[in-house]
Amino acid sequence: MNLKENILAELLTHEGEYYSGGKLAEKFGVSRTAIWKVMEQLKQDGCQIEAVSHKGYFLTKKPDLFNQKYMLDLLKNCKTNWQIQHFKTLDSTNRVAKELAGQNAPSGTVVIADFQTSGRGRMGKHFYSPKGGLYLSVIEKLDLPISDIMSVTACTATAVFLALKQFHITSQIKWVNDLFLNNKKICGILSEGSFNAELLKMDYLVIGIGINLHADKNRPEELNAIITDLETETGNYIYKYDLAIAILKNLETMLAEISEHSYLKIYTENSYTLGHRIQTDDGRQGIAIGFSQDAGLIIKLDDNTETILRTGSAKIID
Ligand code: BTN
Repeated sequence: MNLKENILAELLTHEGEYYSGGKLAEKFGVSRTAIWKVMEQLKQDGCQIEAVSHKGYFLTKKPDLFNQKYMLDLLKNCKTNWQIQHFKTLDSTNRVAKELAGQNAPSGTVVIADFQTSGRGRMGKHFYSPKGGLYLSVIEKLDLPISDIMSVTACTATAVFLALKQFHITSQIKWVNDLFLNNKKICGILSEGSFNAELLKMDYLVIGIGINLHADKNRPEELNAIITDLETETGNYIYKYDLAIAILKNLETMLAEISEHSYLKIYTENSYTLGHRIQTDDGRQGIAIGFSQDAGLIIKLDDNTETILRTGSAKIID
């Protein structure tokens, strides 16, 4: 890691505190002038840093800059051995994570990109992924029965819900893989993987999470009608890597308990879908009344029969 990354890690870790130039210079064995120069570079990169004589440097706004050391420091008490790979641009973090998983990357590998040129959504849809959003894919090698594998997306949605709660944001979960805020989508989740038909288990899973964090004036009009971002809805700036850390921690906890279905209570209580009139992809209509243990959507159809939707989409029509 170079001096700039090291200094940024220090400033991020000491958020809300003044950090003296002398102390930084001593820590990294460089001159105060060298520290000052790095501060100027960091400002150019978008950091807001105040310098007050006799007190030191103060980070007034965390920048949208990735810092490996900061993230790993905050994740070091996890059971998972998180390994983070950050890229400025990728076609799709899910595609790259799948490639890495196929080359034996360990469970806990996380691929993050600042933006994606071909972000992938469910059912072959494109996921709009401009700069400023959080796009990450996690490789998980879990020894789970297939019935639990089906819950991974819902379990992840719950982890993202809980992470947002830590930032005082109460979202709602739209079956099966979306998070909504004020009736618009802020997050999508796509779980993919490789199934080993011989061993009847997954070789690996790749869980992709995309969150709209910042206001985007270039967002196409047709998308503005259905998606939004955390900044627009809350008026607050969130440092996206703090959110990423919260998501990874909650994901670890939720996945560890997946077989006990403990995510299901939170998933149900914060559902955007339940109680609504739904239309399935094959045109059947009814009311969403609950979830099965494997996160299937239970619908009471108009002919009074019940069905459980495990794939496809459930369009809310009322
Ligand atoms: C959906 O809304 O249908 C799911 C969207 C999932 C998007 C995320 S962004 C990170 C990861 N990489 C991708 O290409 N897709 C997922």
